[in-house]
Amino acid sequence: MYNNIVILTGAGISAESGLQTFRGAGGLWNNVAIEDVATIDAYKRNPDFVNKFYNELRPEVMAVEPNAAHFALAKLEQESAANINIITQNVDLLHEKAGSVNVLHMHGRIDQAVCMHCGQILQGAENVDSETVCPFCKTIGMMKPNIVFFGEGILLLDYIEKLLQECDLFIAIGTSGEVYPAANFVQIAAMNKAETYLFNLDSPRNASVFKHCVLGKATETVPSYVKQLLDKD
Ligand code: OAD
Repeated sequence: MYNNIVILTGAGISAESGLQTFRGAGGLWNNVAIEDVATIDAYKRNPDFVNKFYNELRPEVMAVEPNAAHFALAKLEQESAANINIITQNVDLLHEKAGSVNVLHMHGRIDQAVCMHCGQILQGAENVDSETVCPFCKTIGMMKPNIVFFGEGILLLDYIEKLLQECDLFIAIGTSGEVYPAANFVQIAAMNKAETYLFNLDSPRNASVFKHCVLGKATETVPSYVKQLLDKD
């Protein structure tokens, strides 16, 4: 029924796997200030503090397992006749662990580090600190977690915009619509006549832009919608 499906995911899809979201009750940004750990200025000011924060977060994020919503999206990619692309704001690897292949990490990945000197990305990164040597250019102390901080450019944005312009179905799951440019993706898709769906626990700020808004837990709403899509395929 659809040819090109783009799915934007946010922290809400991983909440039922046991990862904290960023905003709302119990959100990560209630305990720690964005300005202290998630801006490029904070990183430049105090890299040791920021590195420690992500070094402590990394094992927790790497340990969790995908839930029914991640598995449903992987099944959609495997069984649908449509092209499926997941654009995730999440730095976890739960889509990949569930079996999804076309996954774009627009905010980076917690298991990678990037050298601020040569730009190369180190896969399977463990702790990063001021003594870490870049394995590519050998510069010391310039490796940072490959996470996009506020004040930095989004990864793969040109390609993402092309996917949004070409899609005929845009689905957002578990995202508050507070952070740009992701909050604006629905508008790009809608302008190009895509059908738009939002699956979220509550109604976020940009909910009115979506044609369909399904409230509830992603582990319940997403598998049943995927089933509907596959039944119509
Ligand atoms: P937020 O924490 O801002 O929003 C998560 C959304 O998921 C909220 O609207 C919740 O209501 C919803 N939610 C929670 N549990 C859910 C569930 N079980 N099922 C469905 N929805 C649920 O997270 P994001 O929108 O992903 O950036 O945040 C965007 C960016 O802000 C993040 O990528 C991060 C952060 O600063 C970076 O770290 C670069």
